[in-house]
Amino acid sequence: MTDTQQTTVVDTTTATTEDQVITPWEVSSVGGVDYDKLVNQFGSTKIDDALIARFEKVTGKKAHHFLRRGIFFSHRDLKELLDHHESGKQWFLYTGRGPSSGSLHFGHLLPFIFTKNLQDAFNVPLVIQMTNDEKFLWKGITLDEAREYTFNNVKDIIALGFDIQKTFIFSNLDYIQYLYPNALKISKCITLNQIKGIFGFGDSDPCGKYNFPPVQAAPSFPDSFPHIFPPGSDYKNIRCLIPCAIDQDPYFRMTRDVAPKIGFQKPSLIHSKFFPALQGHNTKMSASDVNSAVYLSDTPDIVKDKIKKFAFSGGGATKEEQEKNGANLAVDVSYEYLTFLLEDDAKLKEIADAYGSGKMMTSQVKNILIDIMISTSQRHQEARAKITDDVLKAFMSIRKLNF
Ligand code: TRP
Repeated sequence: MTDTQQTTVVDTTTATTEDQVITPWEVSSVGGVDYDKLVNQFGSTKIDDALIARFEKVTGKKAHHFLRRGIFFSHRDLKELLDHHESGKQWFLYTGRGPSSGSLHFGHLLPFIFTKNLQDAFNVPLVIQMTNDEKFLWKGITLDEAREYTFNNVKDIIALGFDIQKTFIFSNLDYIQYLYPNALKISKCITLNQIKGIFGFGDSDPCGKYNFPPVQAAPSFPDSFPHIFPPGSDYKNIRCLIPCAIDQDPYFRMTRDVAPKIGFQKPSLIHSKFFPALQGHNTKMSASDVNSAVYLSDTPDIVKDKIKKFAFSGGGATKEEQEKNGANLAVDVSYEYLTFLLEDDAKLKEIADAYGSGKMMTSQVKNILIDIMISTSQRHQEARAKITDDVLKAFMSIRKLNF
């Protein structure tokens, strides 16, 4: 079967089964997300050790711990992208954020931390889409609120250290005229039936929702950025890699299906798992429940309180039980957060061994996590305080990039 057949738009539906619902707007599951099942349903490919080794060979650098630890775990056409890179051809990174609230939690940063690592490793241009139009349509917020959240969130993103020479951040509300030609071409290739099948939209949904997916698809194509890839560029041979959480896959299955029909390469994808809610593996962190997540703006006392009170423990119910049986690391949220936030492999392994075998108590693991979270958010707040409105404007201005 050719790749085009595999990703035919008509065949793709959002992954909704009895025990898990994963769509761009809802992530819930009974007993934790079954990622293998998702990969099967979506038709993507798991990242294996050989691919990670290839990645390291091409970049000449050790792979980021998100890749080594299976946090970015699935892909589409990553091999083709690496081949393309090795042959010295042009490509770019594309990722985005829907600004649905003023403050970000730790989970929101993951794709951006990883994207920055990719930008540094490959030295390629990066475009970041802020989908304030999407959040206006889906959430009960005004356009003014959507704009305000955009600028707030962009400061948090810039604070992660993106290179201004190689990064363009744009707000859909302001950049739409550049996306519109591709969005139009894309929307002409998709029928109402298909878009209903992919996204599960119903007859009572506002028609704006039906219009939106082509707008998220458009930045996958290089001529949406004439200031980065000027007219006359060999557009059909410029590839794109999209790092995203796996719930965004429906958008890009659609994009990949349309790409050859409008004369572009299919974007490659690299998918992450979700950063779980404090309460456990059944959901991703939610902006609507403040106690499900640790925010970057939470004070040290709040961080401490949330982890102590809410982080689901896989440890024994009593000290004796923990000493006897050890902790179940597979369901322990504090340990899982450490796999995201503690870069030191040796230290992580030490904790896994001691906690898993009962030599370490939940409270000790929680204290390690609390320290890391507090220092990470303090560092982040300091970096963010330096992002002035002028810096923000500079990142969002239409200009040539150097790469
Ligand atoms: N829809 C995404 C969200 O709600 C934002 C987004 C737009 C995005 N383009 C993207 C995410 C590309 C990943 C990759 O957060």
